[in-house]
Amino acid sequence: MLPPEEEIFVIGAGAMAEAFVKGLTSRKAIRAQRLMVVNRSQSDRLNNLCQTYGVQAASWEQVENARLVVVAVKPANVGEVLERIRPMLHGQPVLSFAAGVSIEWMSSVIGGASPVIRTMPNIPVAVLEGATAVSFGPGTSWTDKELVRYLLGQLGEVVEIDESLMNSATAFSGSGPGFVCYFLEAMEDAAVRLGFEPETARELLLQTVVGTARTLREWGLSPHELRRRVTSPGGTTHAGVTVMEESHLRGIVDKALGAAADRSAEMGDSYK
Ligand SMILES: NC(=O)c1ccc[n+]([C@@H]2O[C@H](COP(=O)([O-])OP(=O)(O)OC[C@H]3O[C@@H](n4cnc5c(N)ncnc54)[C@H](OP(=O)(O)O)[C@@H]3O)[C@@H](O)[C@H]2O)c1
Repeated sequence: MLPPEEEIFVIGAGAMAEAFVKGLTSRKAIRAQRLMVVNRSQSDRLNNLCQTYGVQAASWEQVENARLVVVAVKPANVGEVLERIRPMLHGQPVLSFAAGVSIEWMSSVIGGASPVIRTMPNIPVAVLEGATAVSFGPGTSWTDKELVRYLLGQLGEVVEIDESLMNSATAFSGSGPGFVCYFLEAMEDAAVRLGFEPETARELLLQTVVGTARTLREWGLSPHELRRRVTSPGGTTHAGVTVMEESHLRGIVDKALGAAADRSAEMGDSYK
């Protein structure tokens, strides 16, 4: 997909940069030597990436010749990084993983020198089972979009959304693993109260989650349809779901996602 002489320049050597590098190298989407990485301190984290995945520690000047520049630093550091690379940008797309930082703001910092792509991945990208929402800024070419979809696709599923939905994506798929884990914590605690050893509870729980997700995907069903199939009138699932309905669990989930989306918007405003 990527011509062998082209390079991707990654800024940051943290968790997100590692997931990106791991996805591309383990799936052989790009030769490791074509991934150039810088971070702030040239620390152990950068050395670790180089040793583990075979990527190159880069110098900032190499931005000039990169096919794509990937910004994998905390939202608060995006501005300083963009200012630093601004003189070397001449149209090569800049992809950001930073939560809450808008395309318009990033474009203004780089003076419109390159198209900007904003993404919202989630933590399962670390095991290449992520869900990444992507919005393409003005001026992103068809080939750049295809390249980005291909590269992010190595980390899991990729869905293109309008940028106005990014706060919602942050709340839904971005924070989603945290919400799912909160429910799973409650399931696990309840299983222990029902008499299971914690280890046995964990084993049954994880396979129940993985198996349910896989069944939904393979059978092409909605969660509602699968739930109906496993709920016999007067049976055990019915008894449990009745308690959830009476306790207004749906309303609680709705409020929780709303609060997360509002918080994402507030945090985004604070970086401007
Ligand atoms: N982790 C996730 O699951 C996840 C999910 C969704 C979105 N994101 C987004 O991904 C971005 C990165 O998150 P992370 O978890 O990977 O953060 P992280 O582990 O803290 O890594 C941040 C990296 O940025 C580097 N850095 C900071 N300022 C820099 C500068 N001025 N120049 C060069 N490098 C600089 C740091 O360098 P040093 O090593 O020298 O400190 C570090 O390597 C964030 O914006 C976050 O919103 C992450």
